Amino acid sequence: MIQAVDVEKTYPDGTAALQGLNLSVERGEMLLIRGPSGAGKTTLFRLILGMERPTSGAVFIDDQRIDANNPGRVRALRRRVGVIFQNFRLIKGRTARENVEIGLRVLGVTGGHMRGRAEEYLRELDLAHRIDARVDSLSWGEQQRVAVARALAREPEIILADEPTGNLDEALSDRVLELLSRVRERGATVLVAIHSPDVLRKTALRVISLKSGRLVGDTHPPAQKERSRS
Ligand SMILES: Nc1ncnc2c1ncn2[C@@H]1O[C@H](COP(=O)(O)OP(=O)(O)O)[C@@H](O)[C@H]1O
Ligand SMILES: [Mg+2]
Repeated sequence: MIQAVDVEKTYPDGTAALQGLNLSVERGEMLLIRGPSGAGKTTLFRLILGMERPTSGAVFIDDQRIDANNPGRVRALRRRVGVIFQNFRLIKGRTARENVEIGLRVLGVTGGHMRGRAEEYLRELDLAHRIDARVDSLSWGEQQRVAVARALAREPEIILADEPTGNLDEALSDRVLELLSRVRERGATVLVAIHSPDVLRKTALRVISLKSGRLVGDTHPPAQKERSRS
């Protein structure tokens, strides 16, 4: 479903952020992308989102090439993707509820459905008491959870989560990963960038490792290996 073929990304200042990257992620797969800061995790997400073009090579979603020069196609693909950005990108001055609802409205989910779904996901992330608080008055961890709720509430086919557990304590971090797994059980394809070794120790997921823009590891847990062989 998501494929990177011989992808190189060199930024205009000469930084080689990704080099010779080949990666294939199947529909309904959940994958952790690990690697230290600067390894290229966010760049990979930006390429998948059509926010950047690869310097060479190509990225495909369902055999459709993502081309940042084709804004119509990028827009159509983005409707299918829920993103949790590393720096959240919430709309300041708006409440938690409004931030989640705006993401739904652009998908055509409005009225009672929109309000119900926004509340459901904010509650799920323990934000019931903060639903009508402006996001700039929320703590860092609370803002992070609003960003998670906003992405999940869209019930997208693909979720890109850029270090969604970065500043959360262990219990909340487990909860976020569990919510992401649940979305995956519904059939979504989930990519999670991560650097916390705590999360990695107990995971039963496929983990790819990036180092200085190169893929240096790809481990499938036994259960997933069985499935992909059949
Ligand atoms: N807009 C940019 N211009 C120049 N260099 C960039 C830009 N964005 C990221 N980089 C560089 O590309 C490399 C990979 O960055 P990034 O993809 O953000 O890594 P990660 O998310 O794994 O920390 C780093 O060396 C970073 O400094
Ligand atoms: Mg990053």
